[in-house]
Amino acid sequence: MTDLSAAATRLPIPGAQIPAIGLGTFRLTGASAVQSIAGALSLGYRHIDTAAMYENEAEVGEGLRASGVARDQVFITTKVWTTNIAKGDLQASAQASLARMKLDQVDLLLIHWPNKDIALAESIEALCDAKSRGYARNIGVANFPAAMLDDAVRLAAGHGEKIATNQCEYHPRLSQTKVLEACRQHDVVFVSYCPLGQGRMTDDNAIAPIAARHGKTPSQIVLRWHVQQGVVAIPKAGSAGHQRDNLDVFGFTLPDEDMRAISTLAKPDGRLVQPGFAPEWDR
Ligand SMILES: NC(=O)c1ccc[n+]([C@@H]2O[C@H](COP(=O)([O-])OP(=O)(O)OC[C@H]3O[C@@H](n4cnc5c(N)ncnc54)[C@H](OP(=O)(O)O)[C@@H]3O)[C@@H](O)[C@H]2O)c1
Repeated sequence: MTDLSAAATRLPIPGAQIPAIGLGTFRLTGASAVQSIAGALSLGYRHIDTAAMYENEAEVGEGLRASGVARDQVFITTKVWTTNIAKGDLQASAQASLARMKLDQVDLLLIHWPNKDIALAESIEALCDAKSRGYARNIGVANFPAAMLDDAVRLAAGHGEKIATNQCEYHPRLSQTKVLEACRQHDVVFVSYCPLGQGRMTDDNAIAPIAARHGKTPSQIVLRWHVQQGVVAIPKAGSAGHQRDNLDVFGFTLPDEDMRAISTLAKPDGRLVQPGFAPEWDR
């Protein structure tokens, strides 16, 4: 059986390394969230994704302490909600997140969504300032289309900083070729949210036979497809069984024909997360 500590497969970002599989925590709340997060850390997860908007940062901090895993062994990401990314608001949001988690610093602080009513230059300056104040070891963005990522990278460079990651929806039903290209061009790590298509990929008819051939679960196939592209994935799983499955994707390789077959499942209407304030996506 694969040693789950192999989940220590990590991708380099400035001054740190981000584990290739993290635990998504959207909709995990209350006592069960604490239990889930502590359980995941005991299984070997070393990367937890939260956000101010998830209203579970206190549980993430509590789960971390309950697990007994040392703080410096765990990569923790949080995000500033889109209405709080003006100068001053962003830094206050980051401070409030740290207070809720009872942490001095997160490993990664993200702008959760761009906001067309707040100048990107102002938000990126505030994000860089939050890092210089020590609130975060790294900074990044989420839901940034390719051209907006170009701007964010340039603006951060003006403050001597690097955008470490762009966290976007990605799964076999959604092509992200343009954002992936932009990330590679700027040396920004692509972090995939909804990597299992909010669970839909786990009973996909085209994934099932590939999974059977490799003796793996569909979720393992889909997560392996991400990892082999050099993409970090943050599947959410509440139960220990699913968490274990999702972490155990480092002991096999998908051949090129399977990688290609999985990528052909992309559909023009494959996007799942499309709030009214979303930016114009790359086609
Ligand atoms: N930046 C953003 O704007 C943004 C947006 C959306 C999400 N996110 C982040 O991305 C994370 C993941 O996205 P998501 O939660 O929407 O979707 P997801 O990870 O694609 O799918 C989660 C669903 O898949 C199920 N599942 C997990 N592992 C499974 C397995 N091995 N077998 C069968 N089913 C399995 C889960 O059920 P159980 O819980 O029962 O295991 C849950 O219903 C979020 O939690 C959040 O941290 C970020």
